[in-house]
Amino acid sequence: MRRISLLLAFLFISRLAFAVEGMWVPIFLEKLNADEMKAMGLRISIDEIYHFNNVSLKDAIVIFGGGCTGEMISSKGLLLTNHHCGYGQIQSHSSVENDLLTNGFWAKNNEEELKNPGLTATFIRMMEDVSDDVINGEGSVGENIKEVVDRLTGQYPEWEFEVKPFYYGNQYIAIGKQTYKDVRLVGAPPSSIGKYGSDTDNWMWPRHTGDFSIFRIYADADNNPADFNENNVPYIPKKHLTINAGGVEEGDFTMVFGFPGSTQQYLPAREVEYITEIYNPERIEVRDALLANLDKRMRTSDEVRIKYAAKYARIANAWKKWRGENIGIRESKGIQRKKDMEFEFRRRLLNEPEMNSTYGYVLDSLSHYYASMVPYARVRNYYIEVGIQGVEAMRAVRELILIVRAYEEGNVDDEEFMESVGKRIASLKKDYAAEADQEALATVFPIYIKRLGDLTPQRILDVNNNYKGDWEAVAEDAFGDKFFEKMVMNFNEKIKPKKFIKALKKSVLFELSDAMMDHYNNIVAPNYARIQNAINKHQKTYMAGLMEVFDEKRFYPDANFTLRVSYGKVEGFAPVDAVAYHWQTTDTGILEKYIPGDYEFDLPEDFLDLLENERFGRYANASGRLPVCFISSNHTTGGNSGSPALNGDGHLVGLNFDRAWEGTMSDLNYDIERCRNIMVDARYILWVVDAYGGAGYLIDEMDIVGLD
Ligand code: ARG
Ligand code: GLU
Repeated sequence: MRRISLLLAFLFISRLAFAVEGMWVPIFLEKLNADEMKAMGLRISIDEIYHFNNVSLKDAIVIFGGGCTGEMISSKGLLLTNHHCGYGQIQSHSSVENDLLTNGFWAKNNEEELKNPGLTATFIRMMEDVSDDVINGEGSVGENIKEVVDRLTGQYPEWEFEVKPFYYGNQYIAIGKQTYKDVRLVGAPPSSIGKYGSDTDNWMWPRHTGDFSIFRIYADADNNPADFNENNVPYIPKKHLTINAGGVEEGDFTMVFGFPGSTQQYLPAREVEYITEIYNPERIEVRDALLANLDKRMRTSDEVRIKYAAKYARIANAWKKWRGENIGIRESKGIQRKKDMEFEFRRRLLNEPEMNSTYGYVLDSLSHYYASMVPYARVRNYYIEVGIQGVEAMRAVRELILIVRAYEEGNVDDEEFMESVGKRIASLKKDYAAEADQEALATVFPIYIKRLGDLTPQRILDVNNNYKGDWEAVAEDAFGDKFFEKMVMNFNEKIKPKKFIKALKKSVLFELSDAMMDHYNNIVAPNYARIQNAINKHQKTYMAGLMEVFDEKRFYPDANFTLRVSYGKVEGFAPVDAVAYHWQTTDTGILEKYIPGDYEFDLPEDFLDLLENERFGRYANASGRLPVCFISSNHTTGGNSGSPALNGDGHLVGLNFDRAWEGTMSDLNYDIERCRNIMVDARYILWVVDAYGGAGYLIDEMDIVGLD
């Protein structure tokens, strides 16, 4: 009898325990989320996730480099993150003779670990709600923030403090950080594992990528941050994660603990319309053209393919995300859902005269400002897509113009000037194919002019008229004139500044770049900033209004690259008619995708051998398969790459690295039906390290449970 009622209670709870949207601030979990997390399967206390004074999971999580998350997985400072997060470092240690990207790398001991100048790992030591001091303090917001930072720095001199706005400035949180600056590369699988499927599989489920790499934090003799030094020793973290190799099952609770970068969950429907109907399609169109050109060249030239792999990946990453975002917003009726919510917002206000006088106007004002922003935002997007991202030589010339200005203002001498010029030109020519860039210019400008019409800068229209709209000819001149041929492609430091500047100013690339920059800086940017200011002010009011009007609801702040917890459960999804995705992938899929000789889906011989002979050892699941990736309904975004996926005990079961593209609109409008984050299964990571990498000594360093 008792058994039965327990079972019923369990069923009841698990029915209630549907997944939740949101990326939650650790210091408010107890108040906002604890009951729900427990009902869904969290078995540890919130204090074990985040506690200011006591050691908690937060002490194992770091900001890795500029925009990723990483976590401590041993008592000797071992750090786990994604392969695509460590990519730059792995690449920087690679050469033709010693190609770590292709072959992978496993340091056999501490001496073999590779240093990475500039790479940092930052711990969050404390977070404190300082809204009252900042919002109600005596001075301006800026002055109050400074006062808070000064007070906390006095109290905790070993940490660095910043104060960040949440909910568009309705809340302020002070964050105390500690940054370690000696972070060494310990291990990485070959790209054929760590980047398996490359751009074709990027943002896709089902996925078979072993997207991980391993680093180690070093500290001085007192375990404190220090610049790189031979004498530094492995850092002893306050906390490192236990790895659970017992795996997960469908329906299991998971949480992702990391640093989501940026979301816009509280935009009015109108602005989401602009994004999906104007901004995304315009950016996608330019990138469609760029990617098609590059793809053709990369498929016919190995040289171009090698040079452009990383650039192609960068252009394709956002491009694919925007396409997914548009489909997702449409399919989930995201705009209508927002409109319905706005209708309800207005309806409730009508019954509350006092609130109505505070918030009644705000949606109309936002509408007005977002509408007046459209032309400026469009020009700005095109400036970025065409003048900065699209044509590499234009980006370089834009920066050369700034270097020339500083020189003409007398801020640098001849030698310094030519040195900066030389550096900028060298960085353009690194991994550069001028033919491809010329083709890019000829391709994107007709799109730019056609779409921007009257908004096109006059000087660009003049070029268009002079060449009778023939951009192939413009591109030919731009890449064939004296400046580009002599001063750029054949640059040498003996060139006299005067001659260089004269040639630059007469060049076609100068005319195009200077025209766009001039137009942007003088006409667009000031208006853009003015309107953005007004929008920020009204978004703040709107956010406050939403929280007050819908006071029965729970609101999470938009991502702002601060430490957050997202939670949900392991589950598949069914994004289109007749398609239902399973939650897990295994070794079989790696072999199904294998295409010998293809740069995205090739596999190394020794790896194939292990897979074909099913050498999975203790890392296999109950059915004898090797688990590779899995998906959950955890709300994540860019920046969550490298975040640990933790089970109900707070043990690491997976490593977050992507989202399924049908759900990338979660940055604008989360939908539990189709938003899934993608993780590498911890067992796959352990297996690759152990069985393929032969780095069992790293495994010995980790705390692993659930292995038999
Ligand atoms: N889509 C993932 C993230 O934004 C992974 C990107 C790196 N991988 C790649 N194939 N480009 O950003
Ligand atoms: N790959 C992303 C990153 O680098 C994470 C995927 C996402 O956007 O959710 O942060």
